[in-house]
Amino acid sequence: MSAPTDAQRMEKIVSLCKRRGFIFQSTEIYGGLNGAWDYGPLGVELKRNLKNYWWRMIVHERDDVVGMDGAILTHPAVLKASGHVEGFSDPMIDCRTCKAHLRTDQLVEKRGIKQCPNCGGKDLTEARQFNLMFETHVGAAAEESSVAYLRPETAQSIFVQFKNILEMSRKKLPFGIAQIGKAFRNEINPRNFTFRSREFEQMELEYFCRAEEGMKWLRYWLEERLNFYENIGIPRDRLHAREVPDDERAFYSKGTYDIEYDFPFGRQELEGVAYRTDYDLRQHQKASGKSLEYFDDETKERFIPHVVEPSAGVDRTILALICDAYAEDQAPNDKGEMESRIVLRFHPRMAPIKCAIFPLLKNKESLVTKAKEVVALLRPDMTVFYDESGAIGRRYRRQDEIGTPFGVTIDFETLGEKDPALRDTVTLRDRDSMKQERVSIQELPAMLRECIR
Ligand code: GAP
Repeated sequence: MSAPTDAQRMEKIVSLCKRRGFIFQSTEIYGGLNGAWDYGPLGVELKRNLKNYWWRMIVHERDDVVGMDGAILTHPAVLKASGHVEGFSDPMIDCRTCKAHLRTDQLVEKRGIKQCPNCGGKDLTEARQFNLMFETHVGAAAEESSVAYLRPETAQSIFVQFKNILEMSRKKLPFGIAQIGKAFRNEINPRNFTFRSREFEQMELEYFCRAEEGMKWLRYWLEERLNFYENIGIPRDRLHAREVPDDERAFYSKGTYDIEYDFPFGRQELEGVAYRTDYDLRQHQKASGKSLEYFDDETKERFIPHVVEPSAGVDRTILALICDAYAEDQAPNDKGEMESRIVLRFHPRMAPIKCAIFPLLKNKESLVTKAKEVVALLRPDMTVFYDESGAIGRRYRRQDEIGTPFGVTIDFETLGEKDPALRDTVTLRDRDSMKQERVSIQELPAMLRECIR
């Protein structure tokens, strides 16, 4: 059962993203470029945290995976061999009434008659295939021989560099090559905020193995990837592993799972985990005439490895993180009265700002000086935000809205004015429980580092 949709919640999330500098419509002052988004000061931190954590888990903390960073401009031969030039398309229909371009699966059907979802028009063109790749030209002459594509997925450069990386890294099967980077698709209808964009980022792993172990690694990577989402704060009960049925799967895949998430606009795909067999390497070997075989020193066998591919979207995961973190609740203000607050409950590991630092009063120099010392102490280890303006309660509210998990207040006790035993201690407040504890400044870096790692 799919979760109910909640358009109002989605509207509030989009508006918060703009107001607090997570995500802006690209080129907004010129009316916007459909399907392109810009990440603001907080969005870029959130994105970096996600990509860094993925890289750490997939590359740095494993012996069997290495990374690469391939070019976006792609030689047409690569995408001909992979099947993208011929087949990377969606069936498209135009509405003659409102001139909308639609994917055929977006049409609504009333009493057996297909209609335009925008205007209800029934005057529709025949379906035709629309290739989703962005084509460009390399060099000054715009002729057929200069055609190149903006890559529609990061995976192909991994396959094309397979032999180079195999030789230089001297890896033995099973092993993987990971990449994070931009991909481009001329989606017929970008929609649901950043969910379906024309420019987006992927985090892809191609994990090469022996044919007889393909299904085993498929199950392994599905589980790993579900654990990953839990580790960044998305609970398992809002994630769904959908086994893609035979008739929906790519013809070369022996098994594919979609990891789906309950977005406010419905249950949708976050990531695909696909067992792609030896299709890609075989295609590139055939088209390039270069051997992409693996040689097993022990058995003296030579063969094309199979591959399991977990392919995640950065932007979709960011959107899931924001949707999941968004909450409205009640919190006491400075007078102890309850008022409603918007809070983003990001996992501390993902939060753009880890700790906010407040001097109790901005016009008391000794408090300000001490607070700035705490900023300098924490800054090498984490993103911090210093704020001295307004009532403390209001300052906390501003941080709650951007998901800062910890807040530190420097008060007169910190200065040892009330009780010398409390000198150089601060109040540390937890965003979610709103519990406050007194901790020594010296202990703060280690304590917080442990929570944000
Ligand atoms: N190499 C396999 C591949 O690209 P895909 O299912 O087409 O597979 C993988 O894409 C992931 O990339 C998706 O699960 C999604 O997270 C992300 N993605 C694909 N198209 C996207 C789009 N138009 N906008 C945002 N993210 C997209």
